[in-house]
Amino acid sequence: MQTPRTKISEALTLDPPRADLRIKGWVRSARASKHVLFLQINDGSCFGSLQVVVDKQAANFEELAHLTTGSAVEVVGELIASPAKGQRVELKATSVTIIGKADERYPLQKKRHGFEFLRSIAHLRVRTNTFGAVFRTRSVLAQEVHNFFQARGFVYVHTPIITASDCEGAGEMFRVSTLDAGQPPRTDKGAVAWDEDFFARPTFLTVSGQLNGESFALGLSDIYTFGPTFRAENSNTTRHAAEFWMIEPEMAWCDLDDDCDLAEAFVKHLLKATLERCGEDLAFFNAHVDKGLIKRLEHVVNSSFERISYADAINKLAASGRAFEYPVHFGANLQAEHERYLTEELVGRPTFVVDYPKEIKAFYMRRNDDGRTVAAMDLLVPKIGELIGGSQREERLDVLERTITEAGLELAHYQWYLDTRRYGTAPHAGFGLGFERLVMYVTGMENIRDVIPFPRTPRHCEF
Ligand code: 4AD
Ligand code: MG
Repeated sequence: MQTPRTKISEALTLDPPRADLRIKGWVRSARASKHVLFLQINDGSCFGSLQVVVDKQAANFEELAHLTTGSAVEVVGELIASPAKGQRVELKATSVTIIGKADERYPLQKKRHGFEFLRSIAHLRVRTNTFGAVFRTRSVLAQEVHNFFQARGFVYVHTPIITASDCEGAGEMFRVSTLDAGQPPRTDKGAVAWDEDFFARPTFLTVSGQLNGESFALGLSDIYTFGPTFRAENSNTTRHAAEFWMIEPEMAWCDLDDDCDLAEAFVKHLLKATLERCGEDLAFFNAHVDKGLIKRLEHVVNSSFERISYADAINKLAASGRAFEYPVHFGANLQAEHERYLTEELVGRPTFVVDYPKEIKAFYMRRNDDGRTVAAMDLLVPKIGELIGGSQREERLDVLERTITEAGLELAHYQWYLDTRRYGTAPHAGFGLGFERLVMYVTGMENIRDVIPFPRTPRHCEF
């Protein structure tokens, strides 16, 4: 019987000597001298590659001497203590089988490639050090999202992806339709006859699972969603994608302070878990992507987040003497430049800004007694800006009906949502954390396109 495959992550931790070890992976580099061939083999199970040494005696040495970078191979051999510097162990091959050859046009030759070029080969970039590390870290973070909420008794809810409601009321939704785009059916008045469409009404990809999440929280108390969301906003920035993943907890019996407490504990848990579980990958980011990353993450885990009101934030920004591109005044949206100045320079750690003017926030946020602000919070973090957006929800039926109407939305579309306020309404709050922004924060990667496997942004939907 054949010995089973050993993952390289495990092989690298074994004590040599170890006979008859079988590994499979892709050639990162091949270096031939007269008598031996050195291969670096990586299978993605960990950051490191395993050095394989092939002796000239090997039956297929000639063929192997021409082995190209990127080829898939299977190696059987003896794991020995490496006599050379650079690695603790190496695999002395008894046989090397070429499983899948990469031809010489393979675009990932040994030199360093720019992220922009690698984006154009997103189907292959996962075979590089950087992207292997990014996507292993992303995977650990996803599991830690569940660990955090499950340990606290939150119920994981799969909210729908196709929806008829615009949660944010911003009209930035992708239409879902099976009508013939060239010749849609028309009503007598010439408008598109949406009642002939698949769902017999206009439907879209969801921008947020929150409204459905609220309905579940008003029955299960503590819930969270974790799924893909879509925004048809034409933002060409390093922090916006048209398709991204969001985590949205929703809690009954909670106010805005409780909401901030949960967000702070959540972010700290995610950072701490990554520091514990992704040491090797983080060490790489720290050395090659973002010097000082590990220190910064440790600092955040051990600091308490600042909380300031929007009004205070505006005053501080105005008093800063900085020449911002966008003017600062009560009622203005905080732009990335303001957010970063606040969290990076004024405070120097993650900062909750709370109680925004009602005009610049969504209809579902609870109106404060001052008549001009809502119980909203954004969590701003250095280098990223807004990582989380959340609020206490408007639980009073009459107020909610008014804010929906004031937002220019149709009450008829929100009847099911209003039912949750008609029947046993209760105070509740929640937030949304953009998963890609979290991965950027934790890895130091500066472009959202480089932390999602196949990015979708305006004019880009390859792969
Ligand atoms: O602030 P947002 O729009 O809030 C909501 O969608 C609420 N319904 C959440 C809730 O209270 N349940 O989005 C939440 C977070 C932002 O803070 C940001 O991190 C991320 O989602 N986000 C994006 N990430 C990538 N690309 C985009 N286009 C994003 N838009 C928002
Ligand atoms: Mg927001």
